[in-house]
Order: sequence, then structure tokens, then C-alpha cells
Amino acid sequence: MEKAVIQNLKDFVGKKVTINGWLTNKRSGKGLEFLIIRDGSGFLQCVVSLDEVGDEIFQRAKTLSQESSIEITGLIVEDERQIGGFEMQVTELKLISFSNAYPITNKPHGVEFLMDNRHLWLRSRRQWAIMRVRNRLIFAIHNFFQKEGFVQMDAPIFTGNAVEGTTTLFGTEFYDETAYLTQSGQLYGEAMAMAMGKIYTFGPTFRAEKSKTRRHLSEFWMIEPEMAYYNNDMNMDLIEKFIKYIVKTVKDQSTFEFSILERDASIFDKIANEKFPRLTYDQAVRILRGEEKVNGKTTIETLENDLKELLRKIEENHQIIGDAEKEIKAGVKKGKRNYLQNKIDTLKNEIKDLEERKRVIPQWVESAKNFKYGNDLGGSDETVLTRMFDLPVMVYNWPHEVKAFYMKRDEENPNLAKGVDVLAPEGYGEIVGGGERETDLDLLVAKIHEHKLPMEAFEWYLDLRRYGSVPHAGFGLGLERMVAWVCKLKHIRETIPFPRMYGRLFP
Ligand code: 4AD
Ligand code: MG
Repeated sequence: MEKAVIQNLKDFVGKKVTINGWLTNKRSGKGLEFLIIRDGSGFLQCVVSLDEVGDEIFQRAKTLSQESSIEITGLIVEDERQIGGFEMQVTELKLISFSNAYPITNKPHGVEFLMDNRHLWLRSRRQWAIMRVRNRLIFAIHNFFQKEGFVQMDAPIFTGNAVEGTTTLFGTEFYDETAYLTQSGQLYGEAMAMAMGKIYTFGPTFRAEKSKTRRHLSEFWMIEPEMAYYNNDMNMDLIEKFIKYIVKTVKDQSTFEFSILERDASIFDKIANEKFPRLTYDQAVRILRGEEKVNGKTTIETLENDLKELLRKIEENHQIIGDAEKEIKAGVKKGKRNYLQNKIDTLKNEIKDLEERKRVIPQWVESAKNFKYGNDLGGSDETVLTRMFDLPVMVYNWPHEVKAFYMKRDEENPNLAKGVDVLAPEGYGEIVGGGERETDLDLLVAKIHEHKLPMEAFEWYLDLRRYGSVPHAGFGLGLERMVAWVCKLKHIRETIPFPRMYGRLFP
């Protein structure tokens, strides 16, 4: 019998094939068993009919448990109503291995439980979709840089020095020396760019972030391009082209995954077509505080409108829930009752989210109004700023105190550094940090002192300024932040197969 995988079924319509997979769900009808199977490449409904297969196979199907592994054979027919667009009319069914009391059922589970069972949770439909999007993003990223003439090079993971500040370093042993897990490949990237012109690194990076937030991991993957003879304007042009390319590519390839995730992907068309706003830090602060309008509105007005709209929406949801509950009470058929109950649950969840926003928006307004010039942008400030544009926003020319030691000082205003942050819309905040690098040897040495970094560890880095130094720039994109935004996830922990974060080392 010919073997097939679900993602290639369009080539097997009208043919009999065998698929190796697992059972994810099952329902029964009269003389019929509907098995939803998965094989890693997709999902397929397989119909087992007592009349077709006889008693033995039918009993096997009937007693099959969730996540049992099976080999299933049958005729493939097109059926656009079914998941994936096909269905199998089963003729044979072999059990490979029985799964006994699989812990993750189709009922709701708490997230800690799911995280403890991450090794199994990865099999669930949503997680499957997220990992597929992650995979596409990775490939789109490589494609982009390869097409642009970059060379991928790898930075070491054991390092002797900090890059992004000493407070988030993970120390470890390297024979008899102290070593740190790398926070960023950038400094090595700079050395490699001087050898190759344009390079990018794509590797794991580590930050000891002793706080639980929905944006921070202790181990995450970063893409870090570095370009010789680039200034920060060229850097920003590249970032914009890059983000446009990857969101467009992933959008075009992930219709099925986005439908599973219930992600409205239309925002990516706007992003692919419209120019990203570029704000100096000064302008960003003015907008944030409500001193400068965007499209005729201040941040304060916009948020107050959002709040009003939100209250209206909560009211409306309560109304619909009330009506649905009355309908159920009056007595309806089982199918209709399930439908209504589902609707009620969805709306109740939506209300929870809306109530949470109702609680935080006034706090956002307060903190935006009172933003202190010279500070770094906080999470809510980023949300408020991007809310004004519904596009990724680039903020550049930062007060040099809030940026890393290697940032190039602005020649016209020495209080500023030529860094750039890219803030994702929809509340996702910073996804990219980058900038032009300091080339002035004396300024760099002064900065290393000022940041209390050990000079010996940076001698090799200073050599890059001693031997044929050139203007250069680069940036870092956090892969998991990107996946979280593209899939519109509430928390970064679902963006990587096995997240490492404060309080989580297993599984
Ligand atoms: O802004 P960061 O710290 O910049 C750098 O590391 C530079 N050396 C990059 C460069 O210019 N080559 O980090 C860059 C990005 C952030 O914008 C964010 O997307 C991600 O890395 N990131 C994290 N992602 C998940 N968890 C964390 N704890 C992260 N810290 C940073
Ligand atoms: Mg940053």
C-alpha cells in the first residue's frame, strides 16, 4: 500500500493510501466512528464504517484512545468541510501502540499543568500551529539575508565578557576560568562584518531576567545582522525591508495555521505596504505625553476613546450572554445547546480580557502623561505609542545613558546615541534593538570605564577600531518576540518548544 503524509493528500485524491499517525480526537455515530488523526504534517478525519470494515476493525476503532499510535489505510476523498479539506474512508486500521490515560484531554487545563507537560503539549493543535509558524519565520529570515548577500556566521556561546549589561549575565565555568553564556553575538558580529562585509548570526542567547513577564525568556534565539559601511539610517531601511518581507512571506504561507490560532492576519498586508513611522526619542516622548497629536488625536484622547468602546463591548457581551442563557433555559436541542454554551464561554473569556484592559488603560494613561524625559520606554509606553499607528514604530536617537556602551554618539548632539528600537503593534512592544556602533576609540574606552566593564576583556574588540575601523551598524531581532506577535499569543512561553525562564527548567 502506498504511504502518504497528510500535507500531501491533494496528490492522492481517489487513491487508497496508508498514513502513520496518532489519534487526537474521536466521535461516534450510528455504525460509524469518526477518528481525527494527526501525523505531524496535518490533521485528517477518517471515517470508519461498520458495514465497510467489519466487526473486528470497527471494535478497534471504537476502543482507540487519545494519542494511541496507528497505521490507517483508506480511500482519500475531497471534502472542504473537513479539517485540511480531505477525508479518509477507512478500510484498515492497525494499532501500533496504545496510549493509556493521556493527561492532556480536550477539556481546559491550567497553563502550569500544560507547561509541566510541555513534552506532550507540543502535540496539541495550537502548539503545532505555532511551531509551524516559527519554522516558517526562521526560513524566511535566512532567505531574506541570503538574498541580500549576507553570510551567516556563528558567534560563540561561552564568552568572557558582557555585551548588554552585567545584571543579566549567566555565569558558568570554563575549565579554570569564569565564563558567561552569551547575551548577544553582536561584538563578535562586528569582528566578522569587518572580515565579510555583511554577516548575520542566528543563535541562542541568554539573559538572567529574574522576573516573570510575558515578554522575557532566559534563553531565546536572536538574529543579529551586522553591516560594514552602514549608518543608522541605512540600518533602519534594512530593518523595515526585513520585517516587511518576513511578515508577508509568513502570512502567505500560514493560512491554515492562522485559522487554527484564530489570528486575523490582515494587519500584515498593511505592514507590508505602508511606511513604518520613524520617531526620534524626543518626538516619541512628546507623542506619549499627549503633547503632540497623531492623525488629529493625542494618546490621551485615543485611550479614553478605547476605554469607552471597551465598556460598550463589555455591556454588549453581557447582553448576548443573557439572551443565550435564557434560550438554553427555555430548552433547546443538544446541538444547539452546545453551540450556545460555546458562544457563552467565548464571550465570557472575551469579557475577562476586556475587564483586564479596562483596569490597565487608566494606569497606561497616567504613566504616559508623567513619562520622564531620559527614561527608557516601559512596556505600557510602547503599547501606547504603537496604538497610535497600528504599524511597527521605529524610535531612534536615544539618550545615550539608557543604551549600551557600544552605541555611537550623535555628532550633533552628544547627549544622544544612534540606537534604534522597533516596537511591534498590538501591544507586543520591542522586537528589535540595534544601532550604529561607536568608532571613536577614546569615547569607547571612556564608555567601558563608565559602565565598569573589565578593559582586558574588551581589548580584542578595541582592535576593530585600531585596524581599519569603518562606520558600521546592525540590529538584533528576538525570534520568540516575533513569533508571539505574529501568532498574537498572550505569553512568550508558547513560542519555543522548551522554554527556559525564571522558575522553569523542566521538562
Ligand atoms: O535590545 P537587545 O538587548 O539588543 C541587543 O542584544 C543588541 N546587541 C542587538 C544588536 O544590535 N545586535 O535585544 C535585542 C532583541 C530585543 O529587541 C528583543 O526582541 C529580544 O532581543 N530580547 C528578548 N527576547 C526574549 N526574552 C528576553 N529576555 C529578551 N531580551 C531581548
Ligand atoms: Mg533593547
